[in-house]
Amino acid sequence: LVLTQITVQSQDFLISAHRGNSSEAPENTLIANELAIDAKADFIECDVRRTRDGVLVLMHDSTLDRTTNTRGRLRNFNYSQLANVSAGYSRRFGNQFSNERIPTLREALVQAKGRAKVEIEIKESGLADAVVALVKELNMGNDVIIISFIFSELQRVKQISNIPIKYLVSIFWGSSTLRRVQSIGGEYFGPRGVVSTSRIREARAMGIEIISYTIDSERDIRRAIQNGQKGIATNYPRRAYRIRQEL
Ligand code: G3P
Ligand code: CA
Repeated sequence: LVLTQITVQSQDFLISAHRGNSSEAPENTLIANELAIDAKADFIECDVRRTRDGVLVLMHDSTLDRTTNTRGRLRNFNYSQLANVSAGYSRRFGNQFSNERIPTLREALVQAKGRAKVEIEIKESGLADAVVALVKELNMGNDVIIISFIFSELQRVKQISNIPIKYLVSIFWGSSTLRRVQSIGGEYFGPRGVVSTSRIREARAMGIEIISYTIDSERDIRRAIQNGQKGIATNYPRRAYRIRQEL
């Protein structure tokens, strides 16, 4: 008997809440992460940058402009200067979450420990050593995946730890991209959109699993599960959980 289909174990399919449960609360905040746990997400995905004085914090953009009530580049602020900055993303959520602050990565990891795993996205070069040190200090090496579009950061993670990594790409990719991931012992690959069965199979034959982003529609979530991807990052973790239960 030749099996032409990838066996789909939908209950093993991993749901990563993209920037926390960012459809229900402001992205990259502790409330969004709490609501991701509440939605039974397997992972919380968060974006990490550094303040002027070297504190690792959750922030997607390089500036505070879009999601906070303050303007300017994050790297020009010391951490103490962020104390009164609201991360409530009022343009999208009004005043409902105005008490939310910009969390440190440490706070987010402590909150998640034993409740959900964390995909830590390194958003700028030079953070790998500090991120790995924090993960090790909190004894969470088995509870995180370090992810990035910046390949050299993942290379560094693998030089200094056994923490699983995921290489992200936003545009074209092919077999050579997978070989690049394999060359550093990478476990995961994160392209954009739903991935075809043949590509999933090719990656798996190289020891690499696909967790792609950002998969939000009912139809795409179903396709991702049925195609046999290992998981998705989604802004709608509750929806993804329900679909996973149904399949
Ligand atoms: O999980 C990967 C995804 O988060 C990458 O895109 O821009 O949302 O960080 P972005
Ligand atoms: Ca991200």
